[in-house]
Amino acid sequence: MTIFDIIQNALHERTLVSIILSGIRDKNLNYSRIDIRPVMIGGVYMLQFVKNIDNKDIHENLQTDQGYELIRDLLENTFRNFNVVTTDRHVNGLVSKKKKITFKTLVFDKEIDLNLSHNKRKDYIIPDHKPCVFLHHLGVMDANGKVYKSKYDKFRQINKFLEIMDHIISSEMIGDRMRIIDFGCGKAYLTFAVYYYFKEVLKKNVFITGLDLKEDVVGFCNTTAAALGYENLVFKREDIRDYSTKDPVDMVITLHACDTATDAALVKAIKWQAKYILSVPCCQHEMFDKIRNADLQPMLDQGLIKERLSSLVTDTLRVLFLQKEGYDVSTIEFISMEHTPKNLMLRGLKKNIDRNLYQKQYNDFKKFWSLEDVFIEEFYEKELKNDES
Ligand SMILES: C[S@@+](CC[C@H](N)C(=O)[O-])C[C@H]1O[C@@H](n2cnc3c(N)ncnc32)[C@H](O)[C@@H]1O
Repeated sequence: MTIFDIIQNALHERTLVSIILSGIRDKNLNYSRIDIRPVMIGGVYMLQFVKNIDNKDIHENLQTDQGYELIRDLLENTFRNFNVVTTDRHVNGLVSKKKKITFKTLVFDKEIDLNLSHNKRKDYIIPDHKPCVFLHHLGVMDANGKVYKSKYDKFRQINKFLEIMDHIISSEMIGDRMRIIDFGCGKAYLTFAVYYYFKEVLKKNVFITGLDLKEDVVGFCNTTAAALGYENLVFKREDIRDYSTKDPVDMVITLHACDTATDAALVKAIKWQAKYILSVPCCQHEMFDKIRNADLQPMLDQGLIKERLSSLVTDTLRVLFLQKEGYDVSTIEFISMEHTPKNLMLRGLKKNIDRNLYQKQYNDFKKFWSLEDVFIEEFYEKELKNDES
């Protein structure tokens, strides 16, 4: 194992404690060492580089990939000595002029407890380093339970979804049987995870349907469910808008269902009076061409600002729509993602709330933004008409 493997693994597993690079080759530089440590910024695990210049600490925070590349470059070109401490070892080494790296490793008898909330390894509902058959089958972890680096974001994402689910469901509300629909399930990492969670963790009788437009993906998911013996997990190739069922639905979930597919899913959930809705919307285009407000014109003149604003308007309208239909709704940060605005989750619980209040707010909000011909509303009306006929 090279020093670069050790650093990469420590970043991947979040076990890095610190790195010190010293013995600078170029004496003209105005610092002599760099101290590096992991930090959590806005929920994102990053690397902080600290240089002392003229008795002042200069901080720079980098994403881990970028930080790793910089460490590599600094080790190969700028410093002679390094000290790397992880929770289970201390590595101390030298880089020769010819870039040959030698080091000694001291493995600790007992792992250091980082005891820092920002870089403590997280206890996930589905843990890393423990074999989990469906995750292995889907190519998220190896047979020994180690999550592949390229799949770590997905792994974290599904665990976070399960964590939120775990917080909202109460045993009285789920009863013995639970029926869930995952709209726009794609390759269904989440759908399998939810099935696993109810079946294996909660030991509940669960029936899950995953719906998607893609024939090949649906075929793959059905084959995988059969191979895993997940008999109450089925996948269907169908448009959300056309899907109907006579069975009661307890929960509707969506994860990044594109554009108005999210609205169609919410309408179905309302119509079925699903007890729980967990929905992480995706790219919203509908409102971009619809929002108008003369007082806020400067915000609408800038494409990027208008795009972000229209996305927030869409989600607010969805919240109000759900509220006026009797849902207690919270918007929560689904997962901290550095470069994506797709981290807002709408969490709805069917309750007896004052619908009239929200109907007024809904109407006022539409008026404020001069909104007409809104998809969620039109689709809901259409669904109600279909039911009548
Ligand atoms: C961005 S992917 C997300 C997949 C999965 N939920 C995940 O997060 O990994 C969105 C999925 O929604 C599906 N989709 C989009 N519109 C749909 C519709 N009207 N009916 C059914 N599926 C739809 C797409 O085919 C795609 O697989």
